[in-house]
Amino acid sequence: MTSSPKTLTFEEVSKHNHKKDCWIIVNGKVYDITPFLDDHPGGDEVLLTSTAKDATIDFEDVGHSDSAIEMMEKYFIGKLDTSTLPAKVNHRQPLPTQAHGSGNQSSGFVEKILLFLLPLLILGLAFALQSYGKKRHAAPNEN
Ligand code: HEM
Repeated sequence: MTSSPKTLTFEEVSKHNHKKDCWIIVNGKVYDITPFLDDHPGGDEVLLTSTAKDATIDFEDVGHSDSAIEMMEKYFIGKLDTSTLPAKVNHRQPLPTQAHGSGNQSSGFVEKILLFLLPLLILGLAFALQSYGKKRHAAPNEN
């Protein structure tokens, strides 16, 4: 008789996050890799930092070999209830909003003013030069 794999919540899996008790989540599956920590070719540190989160991307980024993937199955202990995974944390810096950061706001304002004023200044300068030229033509021998 085959028993269906245990379903574990993210909260439960996250508790196993140290050297003597280390579980990881890869592709919705939970692995108890405690006995493998000392043997992992990538070291134990990287495995410990892969706990209490979905380590799928970290695992895949390394480009593990087929034999590494085969090896994993030895440590499989259950499936993750994916609905218990916390929403992905956005590590990027939040974009500056209109409501906050008066420093950024004022520099943006100056930039906008300059964008409007610069063409006007150039136009004004062109007119000034043109009328100056006309005056010189009208009275070339003025003393
Ligand atoms: C049960 C889970 C895991 C198993 C069985 C495993 C197995 C292996 C094996 C066999 C290697 C040697 C290279 C290869 O054959 O691909 C390796 C390397 C490595 N693993 Fe894992 N690994 C596991 C999880 C992880 C996780 C979660 C990370 C997190 C980033 C990780 C990071 C690394 C790194 C950085 C290397 C070294 C790569 C190198 O120096 O070229 N591994 N792993």
